[in-house]
Amino acid sequence: MKDRLEALAKHAREEITAAQDAERVEALRVKYLGRKGELSAALGGMGKLSPDERRALGEVANRVKAEVEQLLAAAVARVEDTRLEAELRGPKVDVTLPGRAQVLGKRHPVSRTLEDIVRVFSRMGFDVASGPELELDYFNFEALNIPKDHPARDMQDTFYVDASWLAAPPPSPVLLRTHTSPVQIRTMLGRRPPVRIVAPGRVYRRDSDLTHTPMFHQVEGLWVDKGVTFAELKGTLDAFVRAFFGEQTRTRFRPSFFPFTEPSAEVDISCVICRGKGCRVCKGGGWLEVLGAGMVHPNVFTAVGYDPAEVTGYAFGLGVERIAMLRFRIDDLRLMFENDVRMIEQL
Ligand code: PHE
Repeated sequence: MKDRLEALAKHAREEITAAQDAERVEALRVKYLGRKGELSAALGGMGKLSPDERRALGEVANRVKAEVEQLLAAAVARVEDTRLEAELRGPKVDVTLPGRAQVLGKRHPVSRTLEDIVRVFSRMGFDVASGPELELDYFNFEALNIPKDHPARDMQDTFYVDASWLAAPPPSPVLLRTHTSPVQIRTMLGRRPPVRIVAPGRVYRRDSDLTHTPMFHQVEGLWVDKGVTFAELKGTLDAFVRAFFGEQTRTRFRPSFFPFTEPSAEVDISCVICRGKGCRVCKGGGWLEVLGAGMVHPNVFTAVGYDPAEVTGYAFGLGVERIAMLRFRIDDLRLMFENDVRMIEQL
């Protein structure tokens, strides 16, 4: 039996040192040390031996077993080294390739612009207010003195929302707000003058082309107090424009019409690209339209329970994407919403 063990050890030495891969090493482990392996088989007749013989044989068996285990462990390390070396040399891992850089997130140009606009107005004493994007016709149109037949109320321009299935149907039709002006109403209903707020947020219109997306952002402004004048509106917007676009930027007020302001104005700034000389962005005119504004209409004050004989105020609404495009020199509005990381990274 001792001879059989020695023969087994010799055979195992040869086979294990010759093994080329992990599967073969594992197969040899099973072959020699497994429960039905050769070592167990070689010790099969041990029961018939005398205690002394058994002890002597046991010693040999333990030595052989320890040696085979050592051989196997060495073989496992060796075949793994060989595999790694082959992998490094072979086509799978090219250690000379440069590492892959982590792409860092960045704030969206629209978010950055919106926050910067709000920051400038905060410094001038405006609080930040907000209202829901899902709005009632009453706040979006009615209370803002927008008549029933106004084109903005058309299904063609406004996203109406079916609320008829609600257990308690709302008091007026539901829609996605088409501007941030309903926040004027909600804010004035909630507090007494003086009111000084800016209200940034999303608005929705059924438009989609080069210069219009169905969702965009506005910042609404409202200042109501005793004796607020149009001159203050002009001064405030002029100060904003210079703070935001640079001291050399000029403003121009053109008469316009909004149902909720009287008088109303459209506000242009001197072109930030060509500084007013005329270029492709300002279509040669030297001016860019960025704002709607005016003095709050008396009917709006009446709708919120303010006395138009006692207070006056101004309001303005500003298109954030338009301003972001000018600031970052982007000429297609839709680029803003494709969320191509390469675009955001460039800014
Ligand atoms: N709500 C107007 C619009 O979306 C902008 C505006 C706001 C005009 C406040 C005047 C006063 O076009």
